[in-house]
Amino acid sequence: MKYGYFDDQNREYVITQPDTPLPWINYLGCQAYFGIISNTAGGYSFYRDARLRRLTRYRYNNVPMDSGGRYVYLRDDESKEFWSPSWQPTRNELKDYSCRHGMGYTTIGSSYSGIEASTRYFVPLDENLEIWQLTVTNRRATRALISTFASIEFCLWDAQDDATNFQRNFNTGQVEVEPGVIYHKTEYRERRNHFAYFACSEPGAGFDTQREAFLGPYRGWDKPVAVEAGQLTNSIAHGWSPIGAHQVKLDLAPGETRQIVFVLGYHENPVDQKFSPAGSQIVNKTTVRPVIAKYLDATEANAAFERLRQYWEKTLSVFQVNTPDIHTNRMVNIWNAYQCMATFNMSRSASFYESGIGRGLGFRDSNQDLLGFVHMVPARARERILDLASTQLATGGAYHQYQPLTKRGNNDIGGGFNDDPHWLIVGVSAYIKETGDWSILDEPVPFDNEPGSEVPLYEHLRRSFRYTLERIGPHGLPLIGRADWNDCLNLNCFSDTPGQSFQTTTNKEGKVAESVFIAGLFVFAGRELADIATRRGLGEESSSYLAEVAKMEKVILKHGWDGEWFLRAYDDFGAKIGSKECEEGKIFIESNGFCVLAGIGLDDGKAASAMANTAKYLATKHGLVVQQPAYSHYYLNLGEISSYPPGYKENAGIFCHVNPWVMIGETRLGHGDLAHDYYSRINPSAREEISELHRCEPYVYAQMIAGKDAPSFGEAKNSWLTGTAAWNYYAIVQWILGVRTTLDGLEIAPVIPKSWPGFTATRTFRGVVYKIAIERKGEGNHIALTVDGAPIEGNIVMPPTDGRKEVSVKGILS
Ligand code: BGC
Ligand code: NOJ
Repeated sequence: MKYGYFDDQNREYVITQPDTPLPWINYLGCQAYFGIISNTAGGYSFYRDARLRRLTRYRYNNVPMDSGGRYVYLRDDESKEFWSPSWQPTRNELKDYSCRHGMGYTTIGSSYSGIEASTRYFVPLDENLEIWQLTVTNRRATRALISTFASIEFCLWDAQDDATNFQRNFNTGQVEVEPGVIYHKTEYRERRNHFAYFACSEPGAGFDTQREAFLGPYRGWDKPVAVEAGQLTNSIAHGWSPIGAHQVKLDLAPGETRQIVFVLGYHENPVDQKFSPAGSQIVNKTTVRPVIAKYLDATEANAAFERLRQYWEKTLSVFQVNTPDIHTNRMVNIWNAYQCMATFNMSRSASFYESGIGRGLGFRDSNQDLLGFVHMVPARARERILDLASTQLATGGAYHQYQPLTKRGNNDIGGGFNDDPHWLIVGVSAYIKETGDWSILDEPVPFDNEPGSEVPLYEHLRRSFRYTLERIGPHGLPLIGRADWNDCLNLNCFSDTPGQSFQTTTNKEGKVAESVFIAGLFVFAGRELADIATRRGLGEESSSYLAEVAKMEKVILKHGWDGEWFLRAYDDFGAKIGSKECEEGKIFIESNGFCVLAGIGLDDGKAASAMANTAKYLATKHGLVVQQPAYSHYYLNLGEISSYPPGYKENAGIFCHVNPWVMIGETRLGHGDLAHDYYSRINPSAREEISELHRCEPYVYAQMIAGKDAPSFGEAKNSWLTGTAAWNYYAIVQWILGVRTTLDGLEIAPVIPKSWPGFTATRTFRGVVYKIAIERKGEGNHIALTVDGAPIEGNIVMPPTDGRKEVSVKGILS
């Protein structure tokens, strides 16, 4: 069953039924001001940091779900009936409801008792504000007297404190009101120099800023007393809960349309110019007034929307493909790329599943995310890399997370996740392959943000590599530390106390438990580093990396091989994990996927055997599960993985992040059909028809789909902010379609399904547009390339040396 449809032409997903199984959300903003918005206008906004600069409130895990948002109400002032055109919060039976989630904007509209209304929400480029454009049309044969109300609930900035510290917060709320503009200035009197505002373009018939005056005691957003009464009360918030609500009265002739613009924004004043007149307690509005006035003007708002449209057009145009599979095209050209930008902006902070107060930017996560967005925003990728590397420690280890506002490593969680440092090598390598910008390696970058500790970025990569060499376990494999990619395989934790964090509790010395996954990652990252060293003229250093890599490969094949597949790890007792000897958890996806992706065992049949057994034991119709058999009870020596009931999350859930490792593994074996089949099983667009089962948005990936051991097999959770976005993008684009960046040029190495007659693609790479056409003439993966009509040796297209800005690449597969 579907709840809407894809409008690919307009790059929109159109939801036609408001009661989707879960809120289906979109993101507003792509620079500093952000918001999440659901298909029924739920969600919230923040400036830069979802925890520390939260503008509006949202109630996670509430009933009804998806509570708090950008709510518009309409009231027929004659019949006194009122409703919300976005369905929530009033939930009337609407006609022609639709929510169009597009690139950086969402438009929600419907019709009710002959009144059509729709609101377009978006954040203009380069501004710290969002615009709501509400259009109301009278489709009745008679005149209509309509009151419109727009409302938001302010958050007292720190979302964590806002939700917990009521003894203080019920006393601090402050606002100022001027005609058409409500200013929220809680704590501005003391240490803050920022405030929020909510403005309305039309002469107001009233406002409210005190929540209780608007909603009425014991009422919710579904039945505000002031809307019911048809008159806002001009309340001024003192303490309690400041809100912003505007009322505008419309007198509409039959067929008449009116537009009202609302602007919700964030503004900072210089610390010494906070008040005007100086010495007063009144917010200085000199610099904010012109911004508000500008965007309340519908022409300016429309122009800003057009700039946003062009921005996305340009951003997505870097890679566009046309294959015989609509789901591939739609995800690659539109939604998967868009999701990669969301993960770049948000890391794992704010979604329907991430409350915005928990995790900062993950070191591992943000480096992997680069794989999916570096081609779209290379300059910002560069900045991100330097920020990440600045939180690295001199040991080569890394803070697991950092806070986006301060850019400092997060002490609460600390470091010791022994895979972390290698992802920096992977990220930097992806950046150089994309841009050819070698200068990044010479950038001075501190350790732990300590001024004076700066060394060239390249030295950080060296230390990342060395970090593992200095932490080798009894079998010669890397020690796992707190966890590797699998945050829940906590082999040094041994936690028997409720509430302890599995990620930070360490009850064992950590000198025994080893990870085959990190070994595979070490091989992969080590080769990348060696390639970089070679091109920097450091031949000897490069050879030493390759020697270590070769040594590790041998260790993996000896101690990391279980006979038919790769082992996952050794625990603190030196016992095997992910082995046929185990009673549960006999085979794991991570080590098998990543070792084959890294090319280990390709020559001696081990890779083929690992992939065949992965297919046999882990593949399901909804994707590949993490391991089998699922853990049926809690294992003290394994940690969080066994804390989940079978089939969920890391305990044999379908982790969509790691499925691409197997897809890539299959391409390395030349199996285009299976690789694409795996790709399609978790492709959200290909799952649209089963939305009642999948439940999450059909336009973006979810982190997890419940595995076959779960009662809800096939149900997705944790959509949007997941490494799944980048890895699936990378797998389909660079390995299945095979349009791959290398340090030298653009490699063309498709491993596509046999049934595909070919595909075409356009790729802008280092300033040159490559028009690529692949034609299948045989069933294999051998490719013969011509560049602007001339055959070339091998399959790497080198950047033109004669200034050509467009190049035609034709490939014949046989
Ligand atoms: C989840 C992981 C997550 C970790 C860290 C665990 O409970 O299962 O997927 O990475 O928490 O927040
Ligand atoms: C989600 C985390 O963000 C990511 O870093 C981790 O690798 C996966 N969970 C698997 O545990």
